[in-house]
Amino acid sequence: MATHKLLLLPGDGIGPEVMREVEKIVGWFRKRGVGFETETDLVGGSAYDAHGKAISEAAMGRAQAADAVLFGAVGGPKWDSVPYDVRPEAGLLRLRKDLGLFANLRPAICYPALADASSLKREVVEGLDIVIVRELTGGVYFGEPKELVTLENGQQRAVDTQVYTTGEIERIARVAFDLARKRRNKVSSSEKMNVMKTGVLWRQVVSRIGKAEYADVELEHVLADNCAMQLVRNPKQFDVIVTDNLFGDILSDIAAMLTGSLGMLPSASLGAEDPKTGKRKALYEPVHGSAPDIAGKGLANPIAMVGSFGMALRYSFGLIDEADRLEKAIANVLASGVRTKDIAAPGTNAVGTQDVGDAIVKELEALS
Ligand code: NAI
Ligand code: MG
Repeated sequence: MATHKLLLLPGDGIGPEVMREVEKIVGWFRKRGVGFETETDLVGGSAYDAHGKAISEAAMGRAQAADAVLFGAVGGPKWDSVPYDVRPEAGLLRLRKDLGLFANLRPAICYPALADASSLKREVVEGLDIVIVRELTGGVYFGEPKELVTLENGQQRAVDTQVYTTGEIERIARVAFDLARKRRNKVSSSEKMNVMKTGVLWRQVVSRIGKAEYADVELEHVLADNCAMQLVRNPKQFDVIVTDNLFGDILSDIAAMLTGSLGMLPSASLGAEDPKTGKRKALYEPVHGSAPDIAGKGLANPIAMVGSFGMALRYSFGLIDEADRLEKAIANVLASGVRTKDIAAPGTNAVGTQDVGDAIVKELEALS
């Protein structure tokens, strides 16, 4: 039996509450014979309290050795005044940097039961299931020169620089194509080659990789402004969208809001493929933070965290049937009306975090 090594980093606030529900689901799969090996460690404010830094070297070592890291959330008012370099967020930044996580995956899934909560019409979003692959470590957020200077005439001048190299584009393109093969086999690549040189290079490189290595995957090119429009007009035309850091930041937020609550949004960050094992470093986390306003009350929606584990099943472990079953279980639980307060239908009773986790486990059992 293959063993999948998972490191759980629950973190602060609602992090541990939503992670507990994932542990129930991991336990259920384990009972069914899937070989998960889990370890748990501290990150964020809780690590700072224990070790004086946001992640210990031992925890970093465990993260390096794991097949996937599940990350809850970090931060909260208790640590607002700790020194900048050891603040809770530093734990996440260190993980991203040391694991080389250059690809950020943000799915937008619209469960039929929640389609009326979207700001768009039900028929536009019902059943939506797309992923935005955003390049995370290059582009205009990091390019040099980056400066704000005062000129001799007293005016100020600000410069940001968009830089991409062939290698950076090749590796993000491969992440997108690999992903599409595990989904509906279509990649939409988005840039602005009409006005940007990085866009010209982006399109060339993605086209070349597509032809040479992924001839079985459909590839289309969509200018980024048109992509934003299409996401709102007809999002179901997409499967995987691959784009740069800046456009990805914006497009993934648009896509996220097609589907409603922050408590529903999972994400993944992937690193380079190890040429020997073919495995990628990976970290899976909900998009939301530690929600101090509801922490400790059992009110948090665990579905973003559970959905993040679902992404790990699909993209790190290749457990496609298990991932499909988990998605189906979540959809059925939502349809049955078992929902936390953030997504409860008007006039219905909301349930607690644990009730949702229990209901998902029960549904997994019913589906098998
Ligand atoms: P937040 O995402 O924690 O909360 C925003 C609002 O959404 C709150 O009203 C919260 O109750 C609600 N919410 C979030 N997740 C929910 C869930 N699963 N179920 C139900 N409701 C949910 O963002 P906020 O308030 O800006 O930040 C709170 C703390 O979290 C800060 O310390 C911030 O630095 C940290 N943070 C950490 C992140 C991470 O660990 N990746 C990301 C964002 C914020
Ligand atoms: Mg953003």
